[in-house]
Amino acid sequence: MTIDDDFSSGDAALDIRAEVHWPVAVSALRRLYGSHPEFSGTLDKVRNIALAARAARSEELRALDEARLAAPDWFMQASSIGYSAYVDRFAGRLGAVEGKLDYLRELGVTGLHLLPLMQSRAGQSDGGFAVVDHLRVDPRFGSNDDLTALSRALRARGMSLCLDLLCNHTAREHHWARKAASGDPRYKDHYLFFDRVSETSAFAPWLDEVFPLTAPGNFSHDVETGRWVWTTFYPYQWDLNYQNPLVFCDMLEVMLSLANLGADVLRLDSVAFMWKRAGTNCRNLPEVHALLEAFRALTAIAAPGLILKAEAIVETAEIAAYLGRPGAPPQCQLAYHNSLMVSAWSALADGDAREISSMLARVPAIPDGTTWTTYVRCHDDIGWGVLGRDLGAEGDARARYLSAFYAGQIPGSFARGATFQAATPDAVHGAAGSLASLAGLEAAQGEPGTAALAVARITLLHAMTFFMPGAPVIYMGDEIGLLNDQDWESRAWAAEDCRGLHRPPMDWQAAARRHDLKAVEGQLFGALKALASARAACPALHGSAALTVMDSPDRRVLLARRDRAGQGLLLAANFSDAAVSLTVPLRLKRNLLDGAAQSAGGSIALAPYAVAWLEIE
Ligand code: GLC
Repeated sequence: MTIDDDFSSGDAALDIRAEVHWPVAVSALRRLYGSHPEFSGTLDKVRNIALAARAARSEELRALDEARLAAPDWFMQASSIGYSAYVDRFAGRLGAVEGKLDYLRELGVTGLHLLPLMQSRAGQSDGGFAVVDHLRVDPRFGSNDDLTALSRALRARGMSLCLDLLCNHTAREHHWARKAASGDPRYKDHYLFFDRVSETSAFAPWLDEVFPLTAPGNFSHDVETGRWVWTTFYPYQWDLNYQNPLVFCDMLEVMLSLANLGADVLRLDSVAFMWKRAGTNCRNLPEVHALLEAFRALTAIAAPGLILKAEAIVETAEIAAYLGRPGAPPQCQLAYHNSLMVSAWSALADGDAREISSMLARVPAIPDGTTWTTYVRCHDDIGWGVLGRDLGAEGDARARYLSAFYAGQIPGSFARGATFQAATPDAVHGAAGSLASLAGLEAAQGEPGTAALAVARITLLHAMTFFMPGAPVIYMGDEIGLLNDQDWESRAWAAEDCRGLHRPPMDWQAAARRHDLKAVEGQLFGALKALASARAACPALHGSAALTVMDSPDRRVLLARRDRAGQGLLLAANFSDAAVSLTVPLRLKRNLLDGAAQSAGGSIALAPYAVAWLEIE
């Protein structure tokens, strides 16, 4: 028996899983490293890492593994709602997060995503996305014991914990990077170094820039070593070199250690960039998918309860592949549906839902057992580039228009955001701003009577998103309409870019008004809570139920349906500020959402920005 097919561990349950998943891992690793002189040594290392992690897994987490193996669709339930927050801005420190869980449960939240909380570099850190230690909770937030305690507290409430895994890059101060810079033989190839800048020209002409204004280029000169290093993001974020199998091994160890610390879901940050090849744009390469197949197979052996979530902000046509390609092994169970989020904001700008329906028509079917992470806002910008590429030549002009619209620069715009990374008037990248400020709540402060429209827009975006296949995630503060952080320029991250605008601290005083229906906070919290609870009761909104986009007789209204377990549901979402009536060739029963929509037979009447979830006879 060769190392390729031997995974015997003496643990019967583990060996049964390994019989299925180890050959998948070996096949993926062979595609990646088959010609590497260390290939068989790599397989040995990988197996030992998986076995050691399994041995270290607590009884409690092993029991959770069993429960999740018995109900592998736990994260796809219609009741599944996530919430994404910064530890410090939400609760101060990790130890105080538990005290906020009742608030989240009240809203209907079942999973908590805490933005990067492992130790990041001092000073600028890209909002924590520049880690110096993947496995040590940042002392500013608490300790590893605090994290384990929180994961237990969440579990006790039937909630899950999602953590970020910085898998594409580390801070230049990370201990791997320090050893690499000092020439330590084990780490010297962990990053992508170039002795001369001219060597980067094999790659540079094909690469896009993520932060063209604040971090132009993809390579940075490192004064300490005198070399150039690959930095897709900020100069202090060094990209890892996955062509070196030791990087794969070290990341696997981190991944399984985070699972053993109590993470239920790992958000794999910037996965699309993990493999580079000269003459390509170094995004979405087949090797990235092989890496994900291998990681998934190995987590399925050692921590089968763990879910992998791909953060790949890429073109519509590319995102489904992160969930697995037809006929190929599985990759992540979840992937961000960035195109849905971006196209919804685009549709809202001019009250035309066709951009969403045409985008949805281009999304390939996804494998069983996987679904989307759907969202309206997050801690990042809204990047129009995704649509730009989809729309071809007209895309750039459209992106420029949308950026100006959401920066409040177009007459009549309800938004009060900012352009993101717009280096020149011609190079427009995205929009920054909180959901409420982008949707009109900030502008409504000076214009009595318009707040109701802003509330309707925020509710529309959530009602559409909650209908779609996926596990929706609410971004901290959106449930009470937090406006842009007026003090963002005085905060540490202002030195980097304007995403700080939409990272305001949670306002618990405002949250205390969440039961007051006369207050905006009460209206929004009540609306989102009602959506979460309506969703939980709909069998057709389970993640496994496909979506059928329907021809809409009115471009302002998005029509789509989902069917499962005897329930058929129609979404009718009016993206315009006008009342709309339309007729569909269906017999409709009741609207499951309260609000300004009526239906009888096949006719539907929608108030401005109204949404209905209509049961189909
Ligand atoms: C992801 C994060 C973003 C960060 C980038 C680099 O896209 O969401 O905030 O800047 O990765 O780590």
